[in-house]
Amino acid sequence: MKAMGRAVAHESAHAHVTGQAPYVDDIPEWLGCLHAAPILSEHAHAELLGVDVQKALAMPGVVAVLTAQNLKTIGCSNAFPTQSHDEPIFAEGELLHRGQVVGLVIATSHWLARVAARKVSIEAKVLPAILSIEEALKAESFVLPPVFLTRGNPEQAIAQAAHQLSKRFHLGGQEHFYLESQAAYALPQEQGQMVVHSSSQHPGEVQHWVAHALGLSSHQVRVECRRMGGGFGGKETQAGQVAVWAALAAKVCGKAVKMRLDRDDDFLITGKRHPFFYDYTVGFDTNGRLAGLSLFIASNCGFSVDLSGPVADRAVFHLDNAYCLENLSVRSYRCKTNLQSMTAFRGFGGPQGMVLIETIMGEIARTLQKDPIDVRLQNTYDLIEASSPTSVRSHTHYGMQVEDNIAPAMMQALLEQAAYRKRREQLNVFNKTSPVVKKGLALTPVKFGISFTATFMNQAGALVHVYSDGSVQVNHGGTEMGQGLFTKVAQVVADELGVPLHKVVVTASDTSKVPNASPTAASSGTDLNAKAAQLAARQIRERLDAMREPDESFESVVRRAYMARVQLWSDGFYATPKIHYDRTKLQGRPFYYFAYGVACSEVAIDTLTGESRLLRVDILHDVGKSLNPAIDQGQIEGGFIQGMGWLTMEELVWDDKGALKTQAPSTYKIPSAGDLPGHFEVRFWDAPNREETIFRSKAVGEPPFMLAISVLEALRDAIGEARRHQGRPQNFCLDAPMTPERILHAVHEE
Ligand code: MTE
Ligand code: HPA
Ligand code: MOS
Repeated sequence: MKAMGRAVAHESAHAHVTGQAPYVDDIPEWLGCLHAAPILSEHAHAELLGVDVQKALAMPGVVAVLTAQNLKTIGCSNAFPTQSHDEPIFAEGELLHRGQVVGLVIATSHWLARVAARKVSIEAKVLPAILSIEEALKAESFVLPPVFLTRGNPEQAIAQAAHQLSKRFHLGGQEHFYLESQAAYALPQEQGQMVVHSSSQHPGEVQHWVAHALGLSSHQVRVECRRMGGGFGGKETQAGQVAVWAALAAKVCGKAVKMRLDRDDDFLITGKRHPFFYDYTVGFDTNGRLAGLSLFIASNCGFSVDLSGPVADRAVFHLDNAYCLENLSVRSYRCKTNLQSMTAFRGFGGPQGMVLIETIMGEIARTLQKDPIDVRLQNTYDLIEASSPTSVRSHTHYGMQVEDNIAPAMMQALLEQAAYRKRREQLNVFNKTSPVVKKGLALTPVKFGISFTATFMNQAGALVHVYSDGSVQVNHGGTEMGQGLFTKVAQVVADELGVPLHKVVVTASDTSKVPNASPTAASSGTDLNAKAAQLAARQIRERLDAMREPDESFESVVRRAYMARVQLWSDGFYATPKIHYDRTKLQGRPFYYFAYGVACSEVAIDTLTGESRLLRVDILHDVGKSLNPAIDQGQIEGGFIQGMGWLTMEELVWDDKGALKTQAPSTYKIPSAGDLPGHFEVRFWDAPNREETIFRSKAVGEPPFMLAISVLEALRDAIGEARRHQGRPQNFCLDAPMTPERILHAVHEE
């Protein structure tokens, strides 16, 4: 039986639930293994005058303390080798955010190291800090230059439109809250070499960073990752710092060193989803069709660049979502502040782009007193068939043609499946007769571009080994973070070789097996690595096919091939075709294809307390031809709920000194089982990818996250209803997340 297309369980499912799946911190420790804990800055911005480590060093069990000073003595440059070299390994001269790592305490136990780290005193002279986007804009504090894009004649289109609307609002960031915090375990090897077990989405970059810090070449460092307890983008670059710290400590002490961040420290040190600020002006006609848009966007990038460039670019690429923006001007500013360095997070800026356009759709509808779904349907891209192939209305603002414009059809299908029109009428009746509780409804689409926008990253390699007993091992450059990549790769290889799935084992990501691997990110893990693995397996199969007797078993032909000295292993390499893109002009085809989805959410709000409840969710999602329906459904449900958490309850609060006050699960609330909607139905849009991807499947990791914008829009729909019944205008604060406080305020503000 074929493995592809079947709902087989995750390759580690049993190991996960029985505690048999080791994560970095579970790896048995070498004799004499030491533990490192970070010393944190307590100022958002300050001149660093001195670090007094004497008290910590005097504690029994403390082996060493490492600061920027010590790096000099071991001849290590104090910078992570990022593109812009703007992050020191340990703070030096200046403290740039609260939680910045000033040094490490290395001790005989994890606990001891943490206690001792608090005994280190830091002398500093406090400097004025920039904490908000507004302050950064005023001070012209940026990590990168702004990006501008214009299409058509937006000014004129807005001026000549029947209606104009201008508004500004804030959108909050998000903590990754992977269950396994950042962790690394460094093991010194012969002749100065180093092995690091790293909970990383990008072992290749960790290898590069560790080599750079230790003054080694890449071939002297091996980085391994069997699995992560979640990454969500938070381990795309920022696993590197912890790995470098552990490796430096291991080098200095000549011992194995383990470093795992305590949850609070992880909150304080590592970056989050970028908070955004928007200021928009839109012109539209009486049907709600867009005429022109002028968009000002600013992202809070924190103290360093990290991935802020491509994140902000992806926000610009997803400003259209499923709608054609014929006359558009975008100004995208990338603000530098004295906060943690914001980083990749599921959707990678895409969600922040889409929230803006979906907000505008909702606002237009409330202004015109129309059902928002009718405004949305007015504005979708044209089908290519219905227009000339060069039609403006089938092209994005970055010049890519929307070849498979299935969003309108999916929206129509979900309107039916979720009985949207009927429920809208029922809601109207309910809202008329319910004075305190008001309900809201929204149906929103997702169109998400699949490929790394950095074109060179769209490549992958794999190795397939067939052993003489007929069992198979696969290794590829991707990493497993719970998303099911290893399972899907095993399914592909099993089918390519014609063996049962249990004959195939996928082994840990390892920089010594597949070199120069891209991060597992941009949802393209399966697209890239499964293709590479298929190509590797195909070469072995072709060698076997050439000598196979009719009806001969795999084991038998493998044995004979071995005896006949036929190579039973192979490599495979894949590079995504068709993509090209000019970074300076933001024009081209950055994406191989689009993944689509639509969601319909119904909510209720309590207008006296501001509490809300998600009542019903219907999702129709496009995974192409599903490689594994069980895993895909899990990605859709998990992504949606994670997005709902971002937009409704997860709130990052920094105080006026730049201290993150929501730094633990006690104050930072993520969704729990009780927040699931009573009705939660996920269906697949069952059509193959029109591009030639693996098994004609589509990437599924990030796109469903943005289906949760339907919850935000349903809440605003309910707030609008509440205000209408109170005789208040439809003009209310759009800031998100829509916590109870914000809902209460939005309902009652003048
Ligand atoms: N699913 C789980 N369970 N854990 C994760 O950390 N990360 C998401 C998504 N789904 C994540 C997840 C993100 S941000 C991405 S980019 C993709 O998985 C990466 O994996 P893929 O490319 O193999 O889909
Ligand atoms: N998505 C996710 N991660 C990335 C990207 C992207 O487009 N570019 C660089 N890293
Ligand atoms: Mo995902 S944000 O591309 O790691």
